[in-house]
Amino acid sequence: MPELASTPLVGTVVHGAGRGTGLGFPTANLSPAPGTAVPPPAIYSGWLTRPATGDVHRATVSIGTNPTFGDSAEVHVEVHCHDAPDGLHLYGERVELRFVARLRDTEKFATVDELLAAAREDVRRSDALLAAAPAPAAPTP
Ligand SMILES: Cc1cc2nc3c(=O)[nH]c(=O)nc-3n(C[C@H](O)[C@H](O)[C@H](O)COP(=O)(O)O)c2cc1C
Repeated sequence: MPELASTPLVGTVVHGAGRGTGLGFPTANLSPAPGTAVPPPAIYSGWLTRPATGDVHRATVSIGTNPTFGDSAEVHVEVHCHDAPDGLHLYGERVELRFVARLRDTEKFATVDELLAAAREDVRRSDALLAAAPAPAAPTP
């Protein structure tokens, strides 16, 4: 498996398709800053940090075209923060993502229930990995 980038992915939070909250998996959608490296499509574990506030959140990240829904050719960077069941409302904020592990390939699921079961398992694994990993220092603006 290729090494995960050691430099953070820097991006601005933008509006997604708006499905995530209804699915019980709210995600912050990031528009990567020009020149920032985006890892290949997959599901990842990592830290979301907010230079604006100094907050650090455990996160599970989906990078891909959301093939289960098949309505987009665009690669989305979507971040689910484990401690924010209702989502974080960060529109317009610049945030950073530090990747800790690649969890699995993105899949095209036959049903939304299968996607949700896989995403719950991803978050469970991701949370255990992050609990054992050193948290990054709180970022400064
Ligand atoms: C932990 C996690 C795992 C995901 N895995 C997949 C996947 O394997 N296949 C897929 O099509 N979408 C996957 N997604 C993306 C969801 O399809 C997406 O978050 C949902 O459609 C909401 O998109 P929206 O925020 O743009 O509305 C995953 C999302 C999360 C948070």
